[in-house]
Amino acid sequence: MKHLYVETYGCQMNVADSELMFGILAEVGYSPTEDPGAADVLLVNTCAVRDNAEQRVIGRLGELKRYKRPGVVLGTVGCMAQRLGQQLLDQVPYVDLVIGPDGYRALPELIERAEGGDRMAEVEFKAWEHYEDVQPQRPTSCKAFVTIQRGCDYRCTFCIVPMTRGRERSRRLLDVVAEVEALVEGGVSEVTLLGQTVNSYHDDGSDFADLLREVGHIPGIHRVRFTSPHPNDFSDAVIEAMASVATVCEHVHLPVQSGSSRVLKLMGRRYDRNGYIDCVDRLRRAIPELAISTDIIVGFPGETDEEFLETDNLVREVGFDDAFTFKYSQRKGTGAVRLKHQVPEAVKGERLERIIGTVREVACIKNIGMIGASVEVLVEGVARRGELLQSRTRSNKVVLIDGPAEWIGTYLTVRLTGTTGATFTGVPTSTGKELAIVG
Ligand code: SAH
Ligand code: F3S
Repeated sequence: MKHLYVETYGCQMNVADSELMFGILAEVGYSPTEDPGAADVLLVNTCAVRDNAEQRVIGRLGELKRYKRPGVVLGTVGCMAQRLGQQLLDQVPYVDLVIGPDGYRALPELIERAEGGDRMAEVEFKAWEHYEDVQPQRPTSCKAFVTIQRGCDYRCTFCIVPMTRGRERSRRLLDVVAEVEALVEGGVSEVTLLGQTVNSYHDDGSDFADLLREVGHIPGIHRVRFTSPHPNDFSDAVIEAMASVATVCEHVHLPVQSGSSRVLKLMGRRYDRNGYIDCVDRLRRAIPELAISTDIIVGFPGETDEEFLETDNLVREVGFDDAFTFKYSQRKGTGAVRLKHQVPEAVKGERLERIIGTVREVACIKNIGMIGASVEVLVEGVARRGELLQSRTRSNKVVLIDGPAEWIGTYLTVRLTGTTGATFTGVPTSTGKELAIVG
C-alpha cells in the first residue's frame, strides 16, 4: 500500500480538488496519510491569488524536501502550479511534478514517470474537465463541498483566477443532484455548492435557481450553502429560490472588493457602490434574517484615502457580519498591472488595520444583539481548543457548546449566552439530548 500526503492552501475549491486527488489516487492503491514522513507522494495544492500565498508555498516546499527519500515524489498542484508551470520546475529543483487544476486525471501516470526520474509540468487547460467519473474521497463528516462550476469568465483586473482555472463551465444539473443524493446516503446533511461565480451556474435551460430548488429538496438535506456568488448574477429568480427553499441557509458571502465606484470600475467588477447596495437590499427584502459576509481589497492602484474611507463606511452602511480583508497584491498578467500609482506597502498596511478594526466593531455589535436568541445549530465536531463542541448557525456563526461527542452531526436548538465578538457560546434550550436533538 502506498501513501499520499496532501497539503491544501487557498479557497474551498482547492479543498474540494484535494478530495478529488485523493479519489483519483485511491483508484491506483494510494491511501491517505497525515504524516509527510510516511508518504510516497507529497502534493502541495496551491493558491496564486496573492504573492504572499505563493511565497509561503515556496518556503513550505523547502521544508518538505527533507521527506524526499529515493523514489518519493514531491508535486506542486493547483493555481500557483498552473501559473508558473515549467518556471516552477526550474526555480525549485526538488519539485518533480507541476500540475494545474485541469490535469489531475493524469496524476497516476505522471507520478509513475516521476518515480522513474522524470520531472514535468502538466498545465494544459481542458474546458471539458469536470472529473465527473471520479469519486472524491472526503473526510467523514455531516458536511461536504460540491463543486458545481469550474473556471471564471469575469475579468476582474486584480484577479489571476481566470488565468489559472480557465473558462467557466458548469456541471450538469443531474450529475450534481446525483452526487448530493449519494452524499446524503453517506450521512451528509449540509452541502456547500462551489464555483468562482457560483450563481451564474447554468446547464441547458436550468440556472442556479433551479439547482438550488433541486438540491434543496433532496430528502435528508437540511442545509444548503454556496460560495462565492457575484453581485451581478443575483437574478430575481435566484433570490426567490433562496427565500423559498427552506434548506437554503440565511447567509451569503458577497464579495464587494471596494466601496468606491471609481475603484470598482478600475477593478472591472461591473457594478458600482449603489449597484452593490441595491443587491444587498433586494436580498434583505426577500430574506430579512440574511447574514452577509464579504471580501475587501485595500490599496488597489490609485485608491485614495477618500476612496478607502468609502469602503470603510460601506462596512458600516451594509453592516457586514464578517469580511475577509486583503492588501492588494500585484499579479503578473492581470489588467491592473498597467495601472499607475501603486499604493505604498505602508499605506496598504494602515488601511488594512483600520478596515479590520471596523469589520470587527460592526460584527461585534451585531453579535451582541443576538445574545439571548434561540437558534438552530449543526454540531460539526470538537472545537479546536478545549473540550467544547463547535457548532454553526444557519447564518454561519460559530457557537461553542458543552456536550457529549454523540451530538456531533446532529441539529440542536441552543440559546446564545455570550460572544467574544466573533464566536458565541450557547446552551441547548432543552436539557437532555432526547429533547435537544432534532436531526
Ligand atoms: N470569485 C472568487 C474570487 C476568488 S479570489 C470567489 O469568491 O470564490 C478570492 C478573493 O481574493 C477575492 O474576492 C479578492 O477579495 C481577493 N483577491 C483576489 N485577487 C487579489 C489580489 N490580486 N490582491 C489581493 N486580493 C485579491
Ligand atoms: Fe476573480 Fe473576479 Fe472571477 S474575483 S474569480 S475574476 S469574478
